[in-house]
Amino acid sequence: MKIVHIVGARPNFMKIAPVIHAFERTGEVEQVLVHTGQHYDEELSNYFFDDLGLPRPDVNLGVGSGSHGVQTGRVMIALEPVLERERPDWVFTVGDVNSTVAAALVAAKLGIRVAHVEAGLRSGDWTMPEEINRVVTDRLSDALFTTESSADENLAREGVPAERVHFVGNVMIDTLERHRAAAAALGVAEGMGLPPKGYLLVTLHRPSNVDEPERLAAMLAALGEVVMGTELPVVIPLHPRTSARVRELGIESLLGPLVVLPPLRYLDFLGLMQDAAGVITDSGGIQEETTVLGVPCITVRPNTERPVTLTHGTNQLYDGDPHGLLDVVREALLSERSEVRPPLWDGHAAERIARITLDLGGKGDSAPE
Ligand code: UD1
Repeated sequence: MKIVHIVGARPNFMKIAPVIHAFERTGEVEQVLVHTGQHYDEELSNYFFDDLGLPRPDVNLGVGSGSHGVQTGRVMIALEPVLERERPDWVFTVGDVNSTVAAALVAAKLGIRVAHVEAGLRSGDWTMPEEINRVVTDRLSDALFTTESSADENLAREGVPAERVHFVGNVMIDTLERHRAAAAALGVAEGMGLPPKGYLLVTLHRPSNVDEPERLAAMLAALGEVVMGTELPVVIPLHPRTSARVRELGIESLLGPLVVLPPLRYLDFLGLMQDAAGVITDSGGIQEETTVLGVPCITVRPNTERPVTLTHGTNQLYDGDPHGLLDVVREALLSERSEVRPPLWDGHAAERIARITLDLGGKGDSAPE
């Protein structure tokens, strides 16, 4: 069996790593890794390959940044000849970034079967580019691997035949379990002089929080209020999208009270997350990671595509006035830590994916519909 895996942006790398390793262990699959080049900085891309033990990509499409149409279009144009040449049995695409949907479109039109890892998540919010990517990718997929029961329900409601949907658990948690001890051993917080459980960790990069000048300024001011009100250091590794906006707006002074870092390597970030008193974020994956680590998480969005982190985890949504953030943080810091884990978030999701794919077989074994 031959599989081509497509990755493009930071959150893809930790999801594909355990899948590649699981197929490797079967000894039955030829694997080709294609990096679209959507993320190209060392901090957002290259370091992740080293930290996660990923093989170097066999092909790098080098698409870089651009508007959504440009970025998606460039991936499609560059990927088509690669898939025509490789003619794999399956294309594996992960998550919800522009590279994910571009890969699904090209593969499906070439009659190559598509497997989507982290299928079925829905925020119901069509202003999020990721929501469009999720829905289109799932519609084009032949095997849909899901992380939580809400995803199975969403797919059933959208009419996806049940035999295509496989509830396998969460590959991101496979990666976390594999690396958490090594991350703890790095002692990142200690090295920065941050007391264990004595600081807050923040990430902000969603267009809804950083692209609108007033919202971004209010969010950063609110984080300053959290520093004052809790007397805890607030550590914020800045995504390039966010630092670009801060520079454009000339509001660097709002970062003054915060401990500002560049985007961190996987192990460094995992280490900081484990030791944090709490996390404030608009990321998707961090809601899941904090749930397993038992660290209180405040997600500054009106919705989440990962509701199991609310019902079985440490996550809560906050979409009120940014100046109300301090009260929410204070309350979260008092909350009991949850030891409950969502079903099948056990570090073995990728093995299930490999076994199911081998059972489904290569293109000679059954024709796609
Ligand atoms: C993308 C994903 C998002 C994911 C995030 C994680 C889509 C629609 N969005 O958003 O789901 O959570 O990645 O990081 O695919 N840039 C750099 N260096 C890089 C890459 C980008 O400086 O290596 C800059 C770009 O020039 C651009 C900005 O960052 O100004 C945004 O990059 P882009 O890939 O378009 O989207 P993200 O906001 O990173």
